[in-house]
Amino acid sequence: TNLATTAHINDTTISVLPDETLLTAALRQGINFPNSCRVGGCATCKCKLTAGRVKELTESTYILSDDDMDQGYILACQSVPQTEVSIEVDLSRGRAAQQVFGAVIAQHKLTHDITRLSVQLDAPLNYKAGQFAQISVDSLPHVNRSYSFANPPQEDGCVSFFVRKVDGGIFSTHIHEQDVIGQKVTIEGPAGDFCLRDSDAPILLVAGGSGLAPILAILQDAVQNKVQRSATLLFGARSSEDLYCLDQIEEIKRHWQGEFRFVPVLSDASQVDGAERRHNLIEQIPQSLERGAHAYLCGPPAMVDSAVAVLREHGVGNDYIHADRFLTQH
Ligand code: FES
Repeated sequence: TNLATTAHINDTTISVLPDETLLTAALRQGINFPNSCRVGGCATCKCKLTAGRVKELTESTYILSDDDMDQGYILACQSVPQTEVSIEVDLSRGRAAQQVFGAVIAQHKLTHDITRLSVQLDAPLNYKAGQFAQISVDSLPHVNRSYSFANPPQEDGCVSFFVRKVDGGIFSTHIHEQDVIGQKVTIEGPAGDFCLRDSDAPILLVAGGSGLAPILAILQDAVQNKVQRSATLLFGARSSEDLYCLDQIEEIKRHWQGEFRFVPVLSDASQVDGAERRHNLIEQIPQSLERGAHAYLCGPPAMVDSAVAVLREHGVGNDYIHADRFLTQH
């Protein structure tokens, strides 16, 4: 249809243009709707559909739990109303994010295309290991990008992010090619709900490329909190030069309370016993999956999607698969 439709958000009525998502329509009309990634990856915009029908732009099933879905929760950023709809949402969450300032104190190349950006904040920011924030630097005004914290919150207010160089990416190219030490940084956040859930179940963590950032934060946080769970970390990279933070992983392994297995998986051909072998991160999942394990996945969307499919095939329930999809940000 070419006609606008109507959405009732709590007590406010707005109009939604054809093909417009609920989130876009709400923001356009001045509603402070909670949101963050806007691409179906973080569940910040989750809200309850109490009347009407929506079309979903992406499959939201592995971001929302079965419970959420049974109760009619949807992602506003991925839902286009097909009829007049009514939505319930806690709008106070829309103001939860804070803005803090700091300065770049280190810029360190971890691999040929991943740089660790370390920032000293003026005041510590309260976030959960696994969450992300929007970052901008003064030397590149009006450009901000989402990155996961690569460390758990520290008392000294130091935070770090892994910035992967993207072809044509304004922000990532700037971070890779310019000296930004001393630059003022603005951080808005935290956001996202990718974090370790309480349980005794074994955990399987799957990280691809710069997707290691929130996984490292989660693991370091778990070490600090003396979490006692059996853990397996699968880290996928192209070649051995693309593996990084191995000393930090070693450190986690050393202090882990329980079994900790680290399995680097290289996708480029490598020589094993004189024979050439390629490894696929996803194919390693079944043999690494402990009985009753909960999974935490972070990396490019295609990797996460395949991992989710394999985990489901092997009987891991939706509620035990937590995923953070890193989208390419230009
Ligand atoms: Fe909708 Fe992130 S803002 S899922």
